[in-house]
Formats: sequence, C-alpha cells, structure tokens
Amino acid sequence: MTSPTIAIPVPRTDDALHLEAVSVVVRDGREPRTVLDGVTLDVARGHLVAVMGPSGAGKSTLVDVASGLVLPTHGWVSVLGRHPTSARTAWWAARRRDTVGIVHQRLNLLGGLTATDNVALALELLGHRRGRARSEARSCLDRVGAGHVASTEADRLSVGEQQRVAIARAIAGDRPVLLADEPAAALDRTAADEVTALLGDLAREGRAVLLVTHDSQQASWADRTILLRDGRIAGEVGPT
Ligand SMILES: Nc1ncnc2c1ncn2[C@@H]1O[C@H](COP(=O)(O)OP(=O)(O)OP(=O)(O)O)[C@@H](O)[C@H]1O
Ligand SMILES: [Mg+2]
Repeated sequence: MTSPTIAIPVPRTDDALHLEAVSVVVRDGREPRTVLDGVTLDVARGHLVAVMGPSGAGKSTLVDVASGLVLPTHGWVSVLGRHPTSARTAWWAARRRDTVGIVHQRLNLLGGLTATDNVALALELLGHRRGRARSEARSCLDRVGAGHVASTEADRLSVGEQQRVAIARAIAGDRPVLLADEPAAALDRTAADEVTALLGDLAREGRAVLLVTHDSQQASWADRTILLRDGRIAGEVGPT
C-alpha cells in the first residue's frame, strides 16, 4: 500500500510556507482514511491566503500538517525553505517556537492566566527572560488591539478579546508564519471583520498568513483563496 520513499527535492526558498503533494492518511477504526490528498500550496511573506471548504474537508488537518503537529504520510512541508530530514517531531517543535505561530480552532488559552502571561509564556519557551517576555507580550497585545485587557485573566475575556490574545501569542517572538484556524467563527460580523483585517495587516507587515474560514466575506480579505473539498484542492480564487 505505501509508496516507496523518494528523494525529497530541495524546497523552494522563496516561500515562507510550502506544502508539496501532501497526503495525510489516518486510521479510522480499522480502515485507512485519506484526510488530505495530494495538497500542494505555498504562502509567501506578505500574503494572506484563505482556505475555505465544508466541515470535514481537511482544513484543520492542513493547519496541523503546516505546523508539524501532524506529519504527512506522503509529500513534504517546508518553512523558510527548510524542512526536516530526520528527527521530524523535534524539528517541528522548534519551528513552532521560532517560526510558525498558530491560532487553533479551539484557542487553547490558559484560562487562569492573564492575557500578558498567556503571551509571555510563548516567549519564555523561546528563552526570553521573564521581564523581557512580559514587556514584549504587552507590545504584542497592543499590536492586536488587546492592550486594554493585558491584566485580565483569559477566561474572563470576551470571545473576540480571547481571539486577539491568541493572535498576539501566535505572533510573539516575530514568527514569520501565522496559521489561523477559523479565528472569527464565534464573532459577530463587525468583530470578525476586525480580526480578519488585523490578519491582513499582519501579512502586509511581512508575515505569511494562512487563514482557514468558511465565511466567504472573510476570505474576500485574502490575496488568494484555496477551496478544499474531501482533502483535495478543488479550486482557487485570486490573486486579486
Ligand atoms: N486522527 C484522525 N483520525 C480519524 N479521523 C480524522 C483524524 N484527523 C482528522 N480526521 C477526520 O478528517 C476529516 C477532516 O477533519 P478536519 O478537522 O481537518 O476538518 P475541517 O475541514 O477542519 O472541518 P471543520 O470545518 O468542521 O473544522 C474529518 O472527517 C475528521 O473526522
Ligand atoms: Mg476545522
């Protein structure tokens, strides 16, 4: 069933994030199930790329594979033109600290900690000392319009505020790749537009931003929109 291992080509160096013919096959009970099927995608710095598709299309799995939380069964993923050839799990753990920030579909904030401490923790994992981590955390919160809730515990924040804190955490440490999985799903139209505009601004500052959404209005903020269906790229809109 499994295809022979082939030599991994040298990744393109101009893409901050590149997926090449990525397939993810999972075990669903006894049966293998293809969740992503030959997906090739690149996101350059300065670009906001949206991924749309129905529930179950594989969008969150795409985010997981782009951040090394799930390793591809076939194909490969590179960030900043580099990819792991061995010790893939450790390599990706390091990239999630220094290169790839993720806003998960379930935000995964630590509810009992303040907004500042949630962001500072990501920086302490990068080796920043506590004082510096906290001051940079506050400037990240300012950057995303959440400075006013810096001292508030995460579980007391509104969903929109939590979303901004999660984005602040994902950009802390100047990580150049930002993956956001349905960041505005629980927000009203105005708040959703604000968050999506913020992602556009973060892209224009030079980051490569991948936005998963099933809202075509949010996708309209993107430079390109990829349509995912049954784990395959079914179409592409843009660049505009
Ligand atoms: N480890 C796994 N084991 C079994 N099935 C899985 C696994 N990971 C993903 N799947 C299945 O793959 C499909 C795609 O899941 P995924 O979460 O990527 O979809 P999605 O497009 O993000 O959906 P939604 O819009 O609801 O968030 C789903 O049917 C899911 O149940
Ligand atoms: Mg999902």
